[in-house]
Amino acid sequence: MSQSQLWDDVDDYFTTHLAPEDDVLRAALRDSEAAGLPSIAVTAPQGKLLQLLAQIQGARTILELGTLGGYSTIWLARALPADGRLVSLEYSPVNAEVANRNIARAGLDKIAEVRVGPALESLPQLADENPPPFDLVFIDADKANNPHYVEWALKLTSAGSLIVVDNVVRGGRVADPGNPASDVQGTRTALELIGQHPRLSATAIQTVGSKGYDGFALARVLP
Ligand code: SAH
Ligand code: DHB
Ligand code: MG
Repeated sequence: MSQSQLWDDVDDYFTTHLAPEDDVLRAALRDSEAAGLPSIAVTAPQGKLLQLLAQIQGARTILELGTLGGYSTIWLARALPADGRLVSLEYSPVNAEVANRNIARAGLDKIAEVRVGPALESLPQLADENPPPFDLVFIDADKANNPHYVEWALKLTSAGSLIVVDNVVRGGRVADPGNPASDVQGTRTALELIGQHPRLSATAIQTVGSKGYDGFALARVLP
């Protein structure tokens, strides 16, 4: 058996017993695929991890960068109370439309809002509204801009908030300082910025699974 087949099988086993998808989550993936969106959403066990982190935070407000079809959005928004709020930023109007349908089917349209446009334009607009600090920020958009997204996350959070960055390993490419790819460089700069920031305490964890070999960074905002 190939290694990636084994990773798939273990993810299926974990999904079945620990992170089962209901019809709404399955439909979100089905309709995303039908609309031609790439299959790059978090896995079910990863979605459940995000949900658990939001619950451990006692999150009332969540900011997501990179909505795609709203699959991670649904896992996260389900951690929020009925008067909670999730803002998700998405570049592609097509993706946002698919996501909005998936979010509505999940009954989460009162809680979760998708804003269309480049996140670096939506973030200053959001900041101008002086929102209450976000309890959790999930950074999962274009990796080249990860350093900017970490800076914005710091502006939009407060002590105790959690910042999660997806895809920080990328098959191990993150450890190669000479890799010229903008996603690798963006992620390296973001991780190094996080590591030396006086207001952040952070780590990163490598993962394997049905999305291959990748990982998450977690950063807690200090007082
Ligand atoms: N969080 C999703 C996956 C996001 S994939 C999930 O796990 O279900 C990355 C998304 O970021 C894509 O939908 C892509 O269109 C979006 N994106 C790319 N560049 C962006 C930008 N500059 N601003 C906002 N979103 C962007
Ligand atoms: C890609 C983006 C993601 O957010 C992810 O989790 C996996 C892959 C990509 O752009 O290839
Ligand atoms: Mg991702």
